[in-house]
Amino acid sequence: MSTPIIPVIPNTHPKLPTYNMDEIAFGKNFTDHMLVADYENGEWKNVVIKPYAPFEVDPSCATLHYGQTIFEGIKAFTNKNGEAVIFRPDQNFKRFNISAERMQMPAVPEWIFIEGMKQLINLEKGWIPNKPDASLYIRPFMIAMDPFLGVRPSNTYKFMIILGPSGAYFSAPMKILIEQHYTRATPGGVGFAKNGGNYGGSLYPVALAQEKGYDQVLWTDAIEHKYVEEVGMMNVMFVIDGKVITPSIEKGTVLKGVTRNSAITLLREMGYEVEERFLSVAEIIDAHKKGLFQEVFGVGTAAVVSYISRLAHGEYIMDFDMEALKVAPALKKHLNDIRMGNIVDKHNWLLHI
Ligand SMILES: Cc1ncc(COP(=O)(O)O)c(C=O)c1O
Repeated sequence: MSTPIIPVIPNTHPKLPTYNMDEIAFGKNFTDHMLVADYENGEWKNVVIKPYAPFEVDPSCATLHYGQTIFEGIKAFTNKNGEAVIFRPDQNFKRFNISAERMQMPAVPEWIFIEGMKQLINLEKGWIPNKPDASLYIRPFMIAMDPFLGVRPSNTYKFMIILGPSGAYFSAPMKILIEQHYTRATPGGVGFAKNGGNYGGSLYPVALAQEKGYDQVLWTDAIEHKYVEEVGMMNVMFVIDGKVITPSIEKGTVLKGVTRNSAITLLREMGYEVEERFLSVAEIIDAHKKGLFQEVFGVGTAAVVSYISRLAHGEYIMDFDMEALKVAPALKKHLNDIRMGNIVDKHNWLLHI
């Protein structure tokens, strides 16, 4: 089937010609158009690209009360030849529909998610910043729309894609507290999905960590708080005695990150041994005491590779010399070189617009 051309209602008051592209704080500014599709009577319809604007929801809207809502985060870049590229949107498309299934929501077809995204970004090309570390952040999401109070799946949904120019997400190296009481995800729960509630539930423990002078928490397993899982809204990687170790995703409590997957592939190609396995706090502290714990960093679409300067478990503090980092900066550079077209995209990770 050839891809339908999605109708466009142009924005008659675009911000772009006069917009200051130096003002690109993450998540604050959005482009002139968005994609919208409605799900009704068992099918997706009314797919349209139209001016970015608020819209009305009924106060009884199912999303507002019971959290039937999912999202994705993807980035587009201008490469060194001035071409617009999107990083691995096929992976986000797959994960989106995995989240949809877990939240009892309808799957979104590829032509709306991927082709719709391409057509929207093609229209908004001028919004992709042309600066190192800057990008156009792509936020596809789906919300339940039934005006109904009652815990059951909605019959109607909206799928939307909004875009926002963004600079680097976390710039300074982070201080991280290992969480020993609160939980992000449990086996059998929704940790592997990108549903809104996972994020709402993380705010309180993070606020408590911030009161103690930390930026984020390192989540541990729900049962014993013994094994590390994720750092804030990122997957986490440890370098211990020259080996890279990242928590296993097999229990469904860790999000299957696209950056995590890309990092594992690249690190192996760069010659590092990478292990995906359960990693305990005790093992980390033991490695630190022996002087073998070399680096810890977060990986995710928003921050790409995020350095960590301090990791604490209660009173036990582990500090890292940012000047001595090897693996994290090399990985960051490699990912960046692929996105910018400085090296060959041999895995076909880039979707050219
Ligand atoms: C909880 C959580 N973990 C990990 C990640 C990293 O995933 P990805 O690399 O696909 O962005 C994200 C999203 O960015 C996330 O929300």
